[in-house]
Amino acid sequence: MKILGIESSCDDTSVALIEASDNHFVILAEKTASQIDIHKIYGGVVPEIAGRKHAEAIVPLIEEVTRGEKPDVIAATAGPGLVTGLLVGVEAAKNLSYLWSVPLVRVNHIEGHIYSVLLGTQTQNAALAFPALCLIVSGGHTELVLMKNHGVYELIGKTRDDAAGECFDKVAKLLDLDYPGGPKISKFALEGNTTAIPFPRPMIDSDNFDFSFAGLKTSALYWLRDNTLTAVKVNPFHAIASWFGQSSEPVTIQDFCASFEQAIVDVLVTKTIRAAQKYNPKTIILSGGVSANKKLRESLAENVQRLGVEFRSPELKYSMDNGAMIALAGYYHALKEDFTLWKDIQVDPNWKIYN
Ligand code: KG4
Ligand code: ZN
Repeated sequence: MKILGIESSCDDTSVALIEASDNHFVILAEKTASQIDIHKIYGGVVPEIAGRKHAEAIVPLIEEVTRGEKPDVIAATAGPGLVTGLLVGVEAAKNLSYLWSVPLVRVNHIEGHIYSVLLGTQTQNAALAFPALCLIVSGGHTELVLMKNHGVYELIGKTRDDAAGECFDKVAKLLDLDYPGGPKISKFALEGNTTAIPFPRPMIDSDNFDFSFAGLKTSALYWLRDNTLTAVKVNPFHAIASWFGQSSEPVTIQDFCASFEQAIVDVLVTKTIRAAQKYNPKTIILSGGVSANKKLRESLAENVQRLGVEFRSPELKYSMDNGAMIALAGYYHALKEDFTLWKDIQVDPNWKIYN
């Protein structure tokens, strides 16, 4: 079965054609148009601009990917996300479904991120073992979801305010780093001292699996208001002290980023492992844009390994929004003939995968 996947929920217009049968997937073609260069001028995604840019990109991308060949199924992200972007992808899918007489599948963006772990060269033949505990961390979402089977989800916990990626991006903005700030913070963090600043670990000990990152962002703001970052560690004794976790000062941007990143990673890993101890999953999945974070990946992988549970996260390329993950999620819906008539398809910016 050939599935055309269309993703336009945020700042990437991404189209992919995959061929799927049983648990084997081949990506035949894929193209993505990123809007980051435009949005970074404004420090974040501007919905109006996003919609226009998706509209400019979508038809040429579909043309390049399909080369005029009709797929068997069209899958489009119908939510959650920015309504301005979702409408462009869904309208394109709807038109093609009508013109080509090809069935249409509505895909949830979060479900797409979950299936992204199956993409890529190393994992494309491997089926998912259920139940799977999924930590989905992106610019718009931080959720722990128990996937009991294809299409069967239970919400275990979610952020009560900012998403983890949003927290990375907002704190990066305080540091004058370009949008999206997550990758820039994690790059600085590689060379910093994780114990330089004792940032809080919000809700780490709460007796539920929810998250909260707004307070951490405020702590970062107050720290920057009350302290000054030094460009480099001028005194080598300070560097030596920092190896022993005693670096009262000076604190570099690397130290700040490492301490901040560690706080987020500690919360995400601790709560995911605690959820795993309660729900006994066969697989633990880490996906979404923030899953590109090396520290988070390594730390969660290490802790999951200790539990003796299989750990899956997407290849870096597929951690960001992409059309291939939407096509793959669409494939599982198509197997169940979970189609939507072209004239009935609607976007839902707040669509949840669980009931
Ligand atoms: O899934 P995604 O591409 O878009 C949404 O659905 O939101 O995720 C984008 C988010 C941004 O907040 C970005 O800063 C974050 O993923 N991100 C990272 C890293 N790479 C991307 N956050 C932390 N560390 C990274 N290495
Ligand atoms: Zn996403």
